[in-house]
Amino acid sequence: MTADYKVHGDIAVITLNNPPVNGLGYATRVALTDGLSKANDDAAVKAIVITGAGKAFSGGADIKEFGSPKALQEPNLHSVILMVENSSKPVIAAIHTVCMGGGLELSLGCHYRIAAPGCSVALPEVKLGLLPGAGGTQRLPRALGVEPALNMIVSGEPVKSEMLAMLPGQQLFNKMAASSESLLQEALAYASEVADVRPLPLVRNLPCKHPQGDAYFQFARNMVGGMSKNFPAPLKCVDAVEAAAKKKFDDGLLTERDLFINLMWTPESRALRHIFMAQRAASKIPDVPADTPTREIKSIAVIGAGTMGGGISMNFLNAGIAVKMLEMKQDALDRGIATIRKNYEAQVKKGKLKQDKYEQRMSLLSTTLSYDDLKDADMVIEAVFEEIGVKEAVFKELDRVMKPGAILASNTSTLDVNKIASFTQRPQDVVGMHFFSPANVMKLLEVIRGEKTAKDVLATVMALAKKIKKTAVVSGVCDGFIGNRMIEQYGRQGGFLLDEGCTPAQVDKAVEKFGFAMGPFRMGDLAGNDIGWAIRKRRYLEKPDMKYSKTADLLCEKGRYGQKTGAGWYDYVAGKRDAIPNAEVVKMIEDHRASLGITPRKISDEEIVQRLVYSLVNEAAHILEEGIASKASDIDMVYLMGYGFPIWRGGPMNYADEVGLFNVVQAMHRFAKNPLDDAKFWQPAPLLAKLAAEGKTFN
Ligand code: NAI
Repeated sequence: MTADYKVHGDIAVITLNNPPVNGLGYATRVALTDGLSKANDDAAVKAIVITGAGKAFSGGADIKEFGSPKALQEPNLHSVILMVENSSKPVIAAIHTVCMGGGLELSLGCHYRIAAPGCSVALPEVKLGLLPGAGGTQRLPRALGVEPALNMIVSGEPVKSEMLAMLPGQQLFNKMAASSESLLQEALAYASEVADVRPLPLVRNLPCKHPQGDAYFQFARNMVGGMSKNFPAPLKCVDAVEAAAKKKFDDGLLTERDLFINLMWTPESRALRHIFMAQRAASKIPDVPADTPTREIKSIAVIGAGTMGGGISMNFLNAGIAVKMLEMKQDALDRGIATIRKNYEAQVKKGKLKQDKYEQRMSLLSTTLSYDDLKDADMVIEAVFEEIGVKEAVFKELDRVMKPGAILASNTSTLDVNKIASFTQRPQDVVGMHFFSPANVMKLLEVIRGEKTAKDVLATVMALAKKIKKTAVVSGVCDGFIGNRMIEQYGRQGGFLLDEGCTPAQVDKAVEKFGFAMGPFRMGDLAGNDIGWAIRKRRYLEKPDMKYSKTADLLCEKGRYGQKTGAGWYDYVAGKRDAIPNAEVVKMIEDHRASLGITPRKISDEEIVQRLVYSLVNEAAHILEEGIASKASDIDMVYLMGYGFPIWRGGPMNYADEVGLFNVVQAMHRFAKNPLDDAKFWQPAPLLAKLAAEGKTFN
């Protein structure tokens, strides 16, 4: 049973009871309609209150039913709402805490609504590339007014009930309760008050008009269109609300239905729904049950106060967790603290952080030069130079001083976490926490699971990631982990494209048109070309037969490290981030091409994008096959959260699925025939080849 039924005097109360947010899944809908029938059949009942148990009125659709036929199984939400409207006795929605999506649509079908203050009210469907499909676009404008309703529908953002109650002329809430605690009592009293009022009021009968008519909708289209470039849903929301304002109610409902179904089939909505599920799936580790106990983390030590150490520390300070930073020298600590202060002060200046909050955060930060001061910390995160010898010395010290049970994490981006763990007597407590730069901004955290990492350590780190608002994805140990291992192949393709005839600007433009925040060369300039240079020196020494373009090395030999030196693949003017193409760099590429005896050819944007994106996909398929990632959607999350992959394409794996793996493999076979490319790399990973042959997908 997912709704409770109880009669108080002559009022029936149906309480949705489907934790955590009373999602309106099939069983809940059945229970709700059963309750409505019972109340209507009971001569002793004069009115019906619908409310929600626990921490929500209703959060809307049940995500477990997303996109499945179950969501449409009768009684579907439409039928339920119709049944509420047609009840012969008044139905009163008693709304509190969370009232979203289908939950709000259900309440709009009720004859009356009473709300507690502090309730988050929203129609968030647009965030999944959809629009409210159970009458929300037709009823909310009638209840609230066209403009505020459209704002809510187009943004999907929650608004507090008391704010909505203040809107002039609103009929969304007939009454505000004093509090969530008194809501039910007040709802019962209100139900008695209206029990005999006839005819029963219906939102569908309210007028719906905007005083500016067409001009308003034109204005809305311009605004919304400009802000939602790659997403079709927001403009369709405008269409639906316009239908509410211009058509008869039932015709408007049909328009809403059509628009909803069309959106459901768009790749953008599929991508957004995929991301929604992927985000939730990322925190689940197949062999680490959800009830795995976690260790208590109240204080953190950070080793190294450089670029990463400072950013990492800020995450914890923001979450109210005390941080102690350790460095070798006082001036390094001073510099680290100064950078953290500068970052916070910039936020204060922009009005994003209150002065007292800033001071409160800084008061949680302390520093030391001595390892012995770290003995009480619950966890330590190391962010020192990327050299195994340095890591060894640090981890031996940590092993000596840290209390038993403390978690020992490394922010290494390339080194072997198993080896780092072996420097200690407690490899089960060692884990990788790979933050992305700037660590206080970037949402991605790769959690590197060593061979011996204990399950409760993993569970603790995943929970901690949530606390500091990161999307954590678990990766096994390999060079580059998930993200950087894939980006290496992408970078190699970028190099080959230069050798074969492209300019950096051409490649970047094609990739940016595809939707990446930044093309590979602008990204290199931002991250620092010297970082990749150092990695190549090490890696290609180990793999001398690895084919790659030398252009990036030549660039670094000229000292063009990127934005930090004012010059990289492009030129930069101090204080600005605009990439200005540089003739000397283009000449360098041309000379190198000539020295290889290559005649340049014109390469299409389509080929550029395919080679770059499919290189990610092929490497990812190996990563999946090797078990480095436990699911394809984790790889998508890494690329969406950490590498600027276009959101509306849902990540590289989802994109490949959309293109069709058969087509992806065919393209790889074509690329393998290019003598200037790496034929061996373009052999489709066995997993990819198998899925393509079977007509299957990654996700
Ligand atoms: P950084 O050079 O800015 O900072 C390293 C800091 O560690 C310096 O302040 C240095 O004084 C200190 N340090 C060095 N040896 C030490 C020791 N034995 N004891 C205490 N402090 C010591 O380097 P960055 O960029 O912050 O990198 C740190 C780690 O984070 C590296 O492992 C790197 O691979 C990793 N990483 C870097 C990213 C980046 O974009 N910069 C991204 C993700 C990970």
